[in-house]
Amino acid sequence: MDILKEKILTEGIALSETVLKVDNFLNHQVDPSLMHEIGREFQNRFEEKGITKILTLESSGIAPSVMAGLLMGVPVIFARKRQSLTLTDGLLTSEVYSYTKQEINKVCVAHKFIGEDDTVLIIDDFLANGKAAEALIHLADQAGAEIAGIGIVIEKAFQEGGSALREKGYHVESLARIANLEAGKIEFVKEKEH
Ligand code: G4P
Ligand code: NA
Ligand code: NA
Repeated sequence: MDILKEKILTEGIALSETVLKVDNFLNHQVDPSLMHEIGREFQNRFEEKGITKILTLESSGIAPSVMAGLLMGVPVIFARKRQSLTLTDGLLTSEVYSYTKQEINKVCVAHKFIGEDDTVLIIDDFLANGKAAEALIHLADQAGAEIAGIGIVIEKAFQEGGSALREKGYHVESLARIANLEAGKIEFVKEKEH
């Protein structure tokens, strides 16, 4: 997705060889018109899959997911990371291991929002080691929902998440795939554009 790659090149910062900072438009400040285009791209890549719900993870997955949900005409559910006072009954839960923090965090969704009649599109902002996507898959599986695919805004293709999910047979679509971040330089995977 060219406008996304352009934005990453002009406003993204390679913080280290493994971390890309994009808080100008995705992780802190949000660029709504770029999110709109991202939503449209997810719509194009997953149309005719019979999607009934989008499932994401708070907080940075929400903006692109809401735009995709608006265009696809389906609700968006964000898995929560913190236990809510009002959300206590009928919870599906999973765990995400964080490499950076070296801790396990619980994520949850209310079962009433996702069920066996649903066909789910999972969306997230980043795909690195794939632990967040795996937790979302686990939540959808517990609900008995079908998983139509996984839409990612930025995949760090030099980390293992993308290949692990594709090897398991999931349809993963990443709008920008980063090949490497060495020496402060951002390089994309060379592939044919959609
Ligand atoms: P991991 O992805 O390598 O396993 O690390 P970890 O679990 O610690 O991820 C912490 C957060 O960092 C996650 O967001 C994840 O999506 C994000 N992340 C992973 N790699 C990058 C990167 O290169 N750049 C940026 N900007 N983020 C990255 P989160 O904690 O769920 O935060 P948020 O959704 O509330 O923003
Ligand atoms: Na995230
Ligand atoms: Na994030």
